[in-house]
Amino acid sequence: MNAQEKKPIDWKSLGFEYTRTDYRFVARWRKGEWSVGELTTDEIMHIHEGSPALHYAQQCFEGMKAQTAEDGRILLFRPGLNFERMRNTAERLSMPVVPEELFLCGVKEAVRANAAWVPPYGSGASLYIRPLLIGIGENMGLRPAKEYEFRVMVSPVGPYYKSGGLSVIKLAVSDFDRAAPHGTGDVKAGANYPGGLYATRKAREMGANEALYLDAAHRRYIEEAGSANIIIYTNSNTLITPKSAAILPSITRRSIMDIAAKDLGLATEERPIDLRAEIDTFAEVAACGTAAVLSPVGKIWFDDAWHSFYGNGEKVGPVMQQLYDLLRQVQSGEKADTYGWTVEV
Ligand code: PLP
Ligand code: COI
Repeated sequence: MNAQEKKPIDWKSLGFEYTRTDYRFVARWRKGEWSVGELTTDEIMHIHEGSPALHYAQQCFEGMKAQTAEDGRILLFRPGLNFERMRNTAERLSMPVVPEELFLCGVKEAVRANAAWVPPYGSGASLYIRPLLIGIGENMGLRPAKEYEFRVMVSPVGPYYKSGGLSVIKLAVSDFDRAAPHGTGDVKAGANYPGGLYATRKAREMGANEALYLDAAHRRYIEEAGSANIIIYTNSNTLITPKSAAILPSITRRSIMDIAAKDLGLATEERPIDLRAEIDTFAEVAACGTAAVLSPVGKIWFDDAWHSFYGNGEKVGPVMQQLYDLLRQVQSGEKADTYGWTVEV
């Protein structure tokens, strides 16, 4: 099949939902060794009811995107950093590391085999890639699994937040904690997420899109949103982002901080950010991540009030707009990749 032949999908109306694609990549770890892995059409996982992934959440995942460039090339964004993060997560959860070659081979094969599902250039959509590593096999006691499955599934997706595109979102500070100071907040363990479902529901009841978490020890410093890191442009023209050992080291955030410093010449700082003490200095705020890309935050709810930023919390600020444009241009190959961040599939 010609890779340019695409599925008949209304790409522009896609949300962040699962769409079944044709292939997924699967490798298994048994007796200390990884299989070479292969593509399968079967989206159902056949695993033992005693699998530690099901009982004790011995499971982790990654999130990446593939985009079509104007010349038809399919580009990944910094996949080596996703490998590194999955390696760190696997070590923290006592799981075998998926070797870098296997990780990258699985991602590329899954994307290539589903080339017809990679949204076309200019559609605003992308192919979301979800590598998974789970502990399988019968294992009743609390100990690491004896076998593991590494799987890469993909799905074309549109904007993460329902409002879509670069529209402004709202966050509500949660009464619950996402991660403990020395817990697993800095790795991408699936177990970090279900506790946030209730927090997100509460945030939505307040009219927000998502929950914003403060640090669990002091309930003072900004940590991150349920599925994205936070960046803030201050009145003193500095782009700041929370420093915390309990947040996920977002690849998008690290890239935006670099773009801000190198392309825009902005001062950047990674440091603890005291929400109440510093909020008056926030000119523009955004959430950022693979799924969220860069989503401007117009308002944050806490202490029984909404606190607004640029344009009364209704508009995208100029700095976040510029950062969004530059990030998207690098990711989609529109701008020369002077960073060496994109990898062709
Ligand atoms: N924080 C959390 C909790 C996330 O789930 C994600 C998504 O991966 C991010 C931040 C953003 O990380 P990245 O930019 O690497 O996708
Ligand atoms: C991502 O941005 O890739 C994530 O994993 C966030 C997820 C909760 C959708």
